[in-house]
Amino acid sequence: MLYTSSNTFSRIAYKKHGTGPVIVLLHGFPADHSLWDNIYPGLSSFTTIIPDFPGVGESLGNGEHITIDDMAACVHTILQGEQISAAVIVGHSMGGYVAAAFAEKYPSLMKGMSMVHSTTAADDDERRTMRKKVIELIRKGGKETFIRQMIPNLFAPSFRETNPEVVERQVKKGLLVPDATLIGFYAAMMVRPDRYSVLENTSFPVQWILGKEDGGLPYLKILKQSTVTDINFVNLYSNCGHMSMIENPAQLANDIACFAEYSHKL
Ligand code: MLT
Repeated sequence: MLYTSSNTFSRIAYKKHGTGPVIVLLHGFPADHSLWDNIYPGLSSFTTIIPDFPGVGESLGNGEHITIDDMAACVHTILQGEQISAAVIVGHSMGGYVAAAFAEKYPSLMKGMSMVHSTTAADDDERRTMRKKVIELIRKGGKETFIRQMIPNLFAPSFRETNPEVVERQVKKGLLVPDATLIGFYAAMMVRPDRYSVLENTSFPVQWILGKEDGGLPYLKILKQSTVTDINFVNLYSNCGHMSMIENPAQLANDIACFAEYSHKL
């Protein structure tokens, strides 16, 4: 593990593997860098940078006080420290919200953006109401109830049934995340702005990894965003929910590698 710090966060941890053009892999909620453990070995012709967002893994958080922009600033701090001036940013779900914020703030560093089961849209009212309820539940000591209900639903039903131990492993990891981090991340996602304009103003290629059985972020809604920029890679996985890095890792690693190779060569 490598470490850096910023004015806001005293320890930002990240993994770095390999050599070559850079791919940054941003985890979703409520995961950490280990979410990408099945993916980075398939990206061996690239340098991969894999952070822990503040409050998970080995990165120190700030209690409940964090924004999606703070997370994007952490990515920037890491890239500055590593003297990296061009990267393909890959974000899973919440990590994709961070990728879009990063692209808005630091477009000159972007070679490409890969949205893995993610969207540039803000939360709608229904989702905000759900997040408020979850925050209340966690404050009342209901973390385990929330995690045990949320995590299995990220997977396609057939995967859930045939791989209960894999799902349980993710549940156990989720249970290790401090309450304040869960609340902070949920609040951050709830207030994040719509970033559709990032697509309208962008010249780099964008990849869309979609799971046909993603119940959280339905692929048909996301698909509409894939015609905005000039160059889009769209990869639709059948029999896959929200967790292709676990449900379909070989395909995902291959698709990210193809996209990154193309984007870095432009
Ligand atoms: C994630 O996987 O990061 C979350 O499902 C994102 C969200 O809650 O919007």
